[in-house]
Amino acid sequence: MLARRQFLQLSSMGLSAIGLSAYKGKSAVQKPIVISTWDAGIRANKAAWQVLKNNGRALDAVEQGVMVTENERNCCVGLGANPDRDGYVTLDACIMDEYANCGSVAFLERIKHPIQVARKVMENTPHVFLVGSGAQQFALSQGFVLEKEGLSEDAKKEYEKWLKKSEYKPQINIEKNQQAFVPSRLSDGSFNHDTIGMIAMDAAGNLSGSCTTSGMGFKMRGRVGDSPIIGAGLFVDNEVGAAVATGQGEDIIRVGGSHAVIELMRQGVTPEIACKKVIERLYKIKGAKAKDIQAAIIAINKNGEYGSFCLQKGFNYAVCTGDNNNQLIDGKFLI
Ligand code: GLY
Repeated sequence: MLARRQFLQLSSMGLSAIGLSAYKGKSAVQKPIVISTWDAGIRANKAAWQVLKNNGRALDAVEQGVMVTENERNCCVGLGANPDRDGYVTLDACIMDEYANCGSVAFLERIKHPIQVARKVMENTPHVFLVGSGAQQFALSQGFVLEKEGLSEDAKKEYEKWLKKSEYKPQINIEKNQQAFVPSRLSDGSFNHDTIGMIAMDAAGNLSGSCTTSGMGFKMRGRVGDSPIIGAGLFVDNEVGAAVATGQGEDIIRVGGSHAVIELMRQGVTPEIACKKVIERLYKIKGAKAKDIQAAIIAINKNGEYGSFCLQKGFNYAVCTGDNNNQLIDGKFLI
């Protein structure tokens, strides 16, 4: 924490030059605003914006926003995505609101909208996190229906291809350029790692966030990444800001990614610099192996300032502040 005298000295030096966020005062706050990871965020933001522009709650916006992506057939989030190495699609999701209420599900099968189940965990149980058959049983008790077993056409082809070598190999930037219904693939035609994270501030100035994923394609059965883990994949502190991560979950967990960003912003650091510092920490831990993975974090603070940082070139995120202001921004990168 900066001592008051230090803070005043820094103020006179010009805060932005050293990555500290100048307090802009209430009138300068940019709200409502919604930002989300990857190209799919453009479509998800549109749904979230419908809630925000009508003075809806950020919590509803981030739930409805990512449901668009969960719904996109053959998109890399939701039941159309690639399966684990035993051939089953397993989903992880979490949600957090302005009161620090949160709910998560992981290793959830055959339920179309894990983000909605996460919200039910938050609102209708005394718990934060349900997994596997317990999460599915809870979902059914809440009126969700069990979807048919089996893979989407694309995922089936990918899985059959993968089975030939059965090689466990994470790939970077797998989420990029996913179009609704027709996801484009990497040069070898594959995609294996998939997340959408969304954070928003509503017209009342309240923050919420959501994150949903099918996780790493062809993962070990039972593997869970950062996305449903509050503090790793997502964190919201209504006094400070919100952050959400995407990329190699194991490494985002190692640095407590999203929570670390919030704590840096609490000290006055801008969203971009906060994300950068956490990505640098991750890079230091990974050493030479960092070149094989992607990790990215996006964040907003209470002024509505936003920013992002990622490990490798190729990450992008969508920022929406109006019906005609929903744009894709390339994340700044470290290596
Ligand atoms: N970031 C998503 C995952 O690793 O599962």
